[in-house]
Amino acid sequence: MNIVILNGSPRPKGNTAAMVAAYREGAQSAGHTVTVFDVCRMRVAGCLACEHCHKREQRTCVQKDDMQSIYPALDEADMIVLASPVYYHSLSGQLQCAIHRIYALGYPRRLKKAALLLSSGSKGVYDGAIYIYQHSFVGWLHLEDMGIYTAAGDENKSPELLDRLRAAGAALTNSDDHNVARLVIRSGNLTLRAPLNQTQAARDLMNRLPLTVVGHDSGVDYCCELKEGTFDEAEKQQGWKNGDISVADGWFALLYAGEQESEQHRVMVVAHLDQEQNDLLCALSAKATFDLSLEEPYAKKA
Ligand SMILES: Cc1cc2nc3c(=O)[nH]c(=O)nc-3n(C[C@H](O)[C@H](O)[C@H](O)COP(=O)(O)O)c2cc1C
Repeated sequence: MNIVILNGSPRPKGNTAAMVAAYREGAQSAGHTVTVFDVCRMRVAGCLACEHCHKREQRTCVQKDDMQSIYPALDEADMIVLASPVYYHSLSGQLQCAIHRIYALGYPRRLKKAALLLSSGSKGVYDGAIYIYQHSFVGWLHLEDMGIYTAAGDENKSPELLDRLRAAGAALTNSDDHNVARLVIRSGNLTLRAPLNQTQAARDLMNRLPLTVVGHDSGVDYCCELKEGTFDEAEKQQGWKNGDISVADGWFALLYAGEQESEQHRVMVVAHLDQEQNDLLCALSAKATFDLSLEEPYAKKA
């Protein structure tokens, strides 16, 4: 996996840095690529809420500071690790600035896992930081929680702590578990929910929601025009299963039938409707409008 660690401690030889080094060592020993950004030694300003990234140039931040070197790394990362000293029961201000700036990317393209490393003076001071992590990363960004590691007072830099972090880094695997996001499809009185997969095309679609598309029944699918987005050609598959939903090449398609004859088509499947929901599509008229959105609240993995 590609792992990005955002270290929010200003002390290069401090307690958080020691936690980061041990976790990184473990992860690298297991073959993962780890990039650490010491955000306190970078120029990363807070978000200006100008909405340029959503209304003018998609996924592009107007602020040309050092966050510009973090953005491409985040888009290539499978996992993000937030590391911070506890300041006033929360994350450091510098790390908060970097976190708020992720707003410009929406859903980083490949990101599916997260972990949290916290160092503090006292015990039991983690609720604020954990709340941010659980809600903004595990919940909002739909990431799989790979663990929260804390060190208070004398625990900092202790051999036991560093061994635990090395072991946690070494145990990371590129499993397919993730905090599933569901695509909600509404047409008239009908509401369907389809779990999205982890392809880049699915992440890209999440960034573009809510959307309305109009499609015609071809006999095997509702095929709707949808402006080209981002997808990885290598993630396309040969043929489809009834109930698959595909997005690519200018189309959004609800592939409700035709599985047997689909073998010669390459499709970019992003989600799947179970049979019961797929059957409900047959009740729609020849031309149908679909309102697409993301299910809220973001349910944690079952
Ligand atoms: C501005 C500031 C605020 C802090 N607030 C807290 C706090 O709310 N609770 C706590 O237990 N420790 C607090 N600390 C102590 C640090 O969290 C602790 O020393 C930590 O180990 C520092 O990590 P570092 O070596 O990576 O800088 C604070 C330290 C600073 C400088």
